[in-house]
Amino acid sequence: MDYRAFVEEKISEIRKAVGDGIAINALSGGVDSSVVTVLGHRALGDRLKTVFIDSALMRQGEPEEVREVFADMCIPVEIVDARADFLGALAGLTDPEEKRSAVTNTFYRKVFGNLVRESGATFLFHGTILTDIEETVAGIKRQHNILTQLGIDPKQEYGYHVLEPLAELRKDGVREVAKVLGLPPKIAERIPFPGPALATRVVGEVTEERLDLVRAATVIVEEELAPTKAFQYFAVLLEDKATGIRDGKREFGHIIVVRCIHSVDAREATAVELPWETLHRICERIVAIKGVNRCLYDLTPKPPATIEYI
Ligand code: XMP
Repeated sequence: MDYRAFVEEKISEIRKAVGDGIAINALSGGVDSSVVTVLGHRALGDRLKTVFIDSALMRQGEPEEVREVFADMCIPVEIVDARADFLGALAGLTDPEEKRSAVTNTFYRKVFGNLVRESGATFLFHGTILTDIEETVAGIKRQHNILTQLGIDPKQEYGYHVLEPLAELRKDGVREVAKVLGLPPKIAERIPFPGPALATRVVGEVTEERLDLVRAATVIVEEELAPTKAFQYFAVLLEDKATGIRDGKREFGHIIVVRCIHSVDAREATAVELPWETLHRICERIVAIKGVNRCLYDLTPKPPATIEYI
């Protein structure tokens, strides 16, 4: 495919579709939503409002980092502080599917839904790619109807249009478009990060304290394993605890799991054979996090495991 021609074609399609209307999109910093943001801004300039929703579930420094990358491209990104909404919705929940629904509903129905209404936008940009559509049709993913997720009844609130400029591309194509658009490698080559973010990496209740633990471990794992160029690598906080010794005293501490996998398309995965030295260094750094006294490496392939823990 000629990706330069693709970019020009999409920009002109967007201009034609939106006319002199107003559009909005939510940017996560992942490659799909980043590419949509740049395409939309090239087409519409400041008639596209881009928001980054700070859900409290992002990695260390992520909201500011994403905003800076886009500021360098002269694209303003508004950070919306919705931490209390997400933490409130997740309080007391331990069931994985209930946690996932709480995140999805808070995002679409409450936070983004309100932003869309307040902005007066009649066009929403969404980074849906071909694989998302195929998996929705095959029943692998949950229904991906954004209007329904936003709590908007198209019959009642007639006039909303969803634009999905990447719907004919797969991930590799999106990465090529990212390069054509001049997105920096840290965005174009970003490892996959799930929509429900760190909520998928905290087994049991998601609280601020428990997010801080997994966030600190994530920084270490990402630093140490970036050179592996593996498909995905991350840290998980378990619900169990284990006995240990710190400063000569017994401690009942947290357990962090490190996962690092090879995969082509996330449908199957195998654990990467990391050198002992790397594993030791990661372990040493992770058990230096206050309250954590065990670090485990997960060898399980997918299937039977999934990649994430919830
Ligand atoms: P699993 O855990 O199902 O993950 O083996 C497969 C791939 O999908 C990512 N993942 C998600 N991505 N929303 C996303 O956008 C989600 O809810 C979600 N859950 C898992 C996961 O990181 C892996 O790359």
